[in-house]
Amino acid sequence: MKKFLITGALGQIGSELAMELRKRYGNENVVASDLSKRESIVVESGPFEVLDITDSDKLDEIVKKHEINWIINLAAILSAVGEKNPSLAWEINMNGLFNVLEVARENNCAVFTPSSIAAFGPNTPKDDTPQDTIQRPNTMYGVTKVSGELLCDYYYEKFGVDTRGVRFPGLISYSTLPGGGTTDYAVHIYYEALKKGKFTCPLDEDTYMDMMYMPDAINAIIDLIEADASKLKHRNAFNVTAMSFNPEMIANEIKKHISEFTMDYDVNNDLQKIANSWPNSLDDSAAKKEWDWNPKYDLEAMTKDMLDKLKEKLNIEK
Ligand code: NAD
Ligand code: SER
Repeated sequence: MKKFLITGALGQIGSELAMELRKRYGNENVVASDLSKRESIVVESGPFEVLDITDSDKLDEIVKKHEINWIINLAAILSAVGEKNPSLAWEINMNGLFNVLEVARENNCAVFTPSSIAAFGPNTPKDDTPQDTIQRPNTMYGVTKVSGELLCDYYYEKFGVDTRGVRFPGLISYSTLPGGGTTDYAVHIYYEALKKGKFTCPLDEDTYMDMMYMPDAINAIIDLIEADASKLKHRNAFNVTAMSFNPEMIANEIKKHISEFTMDYDVNNDLQKIANSWPNSLDDSAAKKEWDWNPKYDLEAMTKDMLDKLKEKLNIEK
């Protein structure tokens, strides 16, 4: 029986993953944790622990107390915040991950840690970016992501820790707002379209990036955790994607539902620089081959569902 600990469980991914895991594996078998106890269904619906992942003793204590055998490590600083505070990004993304891997090694746990499209850099082939290619990122977030991939490989090779992970693109969801990344515009655009009928985009109109709707991301995590280990060649850093678009394309899709919607641009140079260093589109054939990765949502289906769910959440009639 799998018994999970999720770090950073109140964030954009964790808040949805915790609920889906509890549905599939039972509430008591999914221990959520985060820096503090915030108001959330995740805190109310099952075990919750306050945990800073830079505190390895507390992490070890929680793993032992709940007899955890899977750690899903979602505690992190994302790209835009990481560029503003690189030392914090290193401390949490690297030293935190190191603690997670050490505690996993000592307690025989498996570990899932997401990497990102940020693990690529300006010298990486931009279109149909291969699974195995040049990785020389120029952001601190990207440096921690590629180092994290290597560290997870090392713990698997050296100590036999069952480490697994995917390189997520920008994730779009309606439950919890994103935590300070470069792809966040693709979430905020839906909120602003419904609330104000207009959006000022911080990235220029030619900025293509990979994206994915949260239900597909949650399935990716669970499918990879459940995958047959003997079939995994790229265990820690599978390219996964569901769609690639630029701001004009998402705005045009929203206009099909909200005809009066308008968008203008006020480019944020710091964000633009990060976005320009990332791929336009990923090749996710290794994930398809090794564990049957199969996303369900494209831009059209995601936009319809996002707008429906957000209207309900924001109590907007349109
Ligand atoms: P998020 O910012 O929404 O959530 C991160 C959570 O970590 C927050 O709840 C925060 O309180 C918590 N946290 C921060 N410092 C902590 C610490 N020291 N100890 C414990 N908890 C701490 O992030 P997310 O979007 O849910 O991302 C989760 C993981 O997925 C990260 O590794 C991120 O790099 C990766 N990822 C996310 C995206 C995306 O678009 N959301 C894309 C690619 C990769
Ligand atoms: N959505 C994330 C970010 O923009 C990608 O890792 O930081």
